[in-house]
Amino acid sequence: MSGRKVIVFGATGEIGGRIARGCVKAGHKVFGISRGKNTREVVELEGVEMIYGDKSDENFIRDTVAKLDYDAVINSVPKIEDVELCHKYLKKAENVIQCSSTGTFVPLRYFPADENHPWREKTPVNFYPQSVRDARALELWKTEKFPITILRPTNIIGAGRVPLELWGGRDIEFYKKLKAGETVHIAPCENILLQSGFNDDLASAFVKALDAPDKIRGEIFVISTKKAITLGTYLQTAMDYLHSKSEIKHASVEELMKIYPHITWTNRLDFLLEHMSFDIGKAERTFGYSTTKSGQEGLVSALEWCEKAGLL
Ligand SMILES: NC(=O)c1ccc[n+]([C@@H]2O[C@H](COP(=O)([O-])OP(=O)(O)OC[C@H]3O[C@@H](n4cnc5c(N)ncnc54)[C@H](OP(=O)(O)O)[C@@H]3O)[C@@H](O)[C@H]2O)c1
Repeated sequence: MSGRKVIVFGATGEIGGRIARGCVKAGHKVFGISRGKNTREVVELEGVEMIYGDKSDENFIRDTVAKLDYDAVINSVPKIEDVELCHKYLKKAENVIQCSSTGTFVPLRYFPADENHPWREKTPVNFYPQSVRDARALELWKTEKFPITILRPTNIIGAGRVPLELWGGRDIEFYKKLKAGETVHIAPCENILLQSGFNDDLASAFVKALDAPDKIRGEIFVISTKKAITLGTYLQTAMDYLHSKSEIKHASVEELMKIYPHITWTNRLDFLLEHMSFDIGKAERTFGYSTTKSGQEGLVSALEWCEKAGLL
């Protein structure tokens, strides 16, 4: 289905840029929106009509965005205020697709988790503000047929950004140490499950969802790679790629704080130590979502990019 007219908020972002590019490739008219402040790598956006403004600015949404000729809205970086502004002003949208996160679901109560897993309650580790935003959007669907669809990616991996490391962040020092063969201390985490999402594949989900306008409204979809792997496998994949001979040593959080004092450890490991394992079957069945890379392949792709970008 080509020929839709799509507004993509965050069109210079890692996922947003890939969505905008994918929509052009699929034959849609694309209006890309950002503030023009992003300094990270941006994918080729040929064919995207860029409009610069702040999506939180009510005047900009009402006076500029609402006047565009569009039938779908994709918000790659939504805030709760965006839901309200979109509902209030972007009335021509037949579909509003918003990016969320599987961080809303944790801690997981069963594996692999799916869209029926609880996510609305605040827990010590979940991304509760995103739960509140998503709940509000779904309430507007129920009460006023606001045509929302929520796509929830797992941890994003691929070219364009330093991949997650086993300190729980995206610190290139971790991979530099592995490459140099230096000893690396980590919390005991090798048996924890991780399911990354490859950025090109994640972005393709938003583009494919546009082809199933009537099946996606009021629905949540988890998007990711096909299978979870353990953090031990993830680490070994990085070590193999970097030909690393590093010794990996276990340490408590208190010890890690002393060994790596430059890292802010607060809340970092809590999330890393949560199992992440999801079933992507609903997205596959509903709009033909498919994956091209595994978690290991996505990690290699990210590390290749780090080397090419001179970071590693
Ligand atoms: N990182 C992860 O592992 C992970 C996992 C699951 C889900 N997610 C979700 O995935 C999404 C990530 O998207 P991404 O990777 O494309 O983000 P990103 O690379 O950080 O890009 C953000 C984009 O939004 C634009 N932007 C930010 N604030 C704006 C504003 N007020 N008005 C207009 N444009 C604005 C930025 O451009 P300007 O700065 O120039 O405006 C840029 O184009 C987020 O929703 C995140 O919550 C992330």
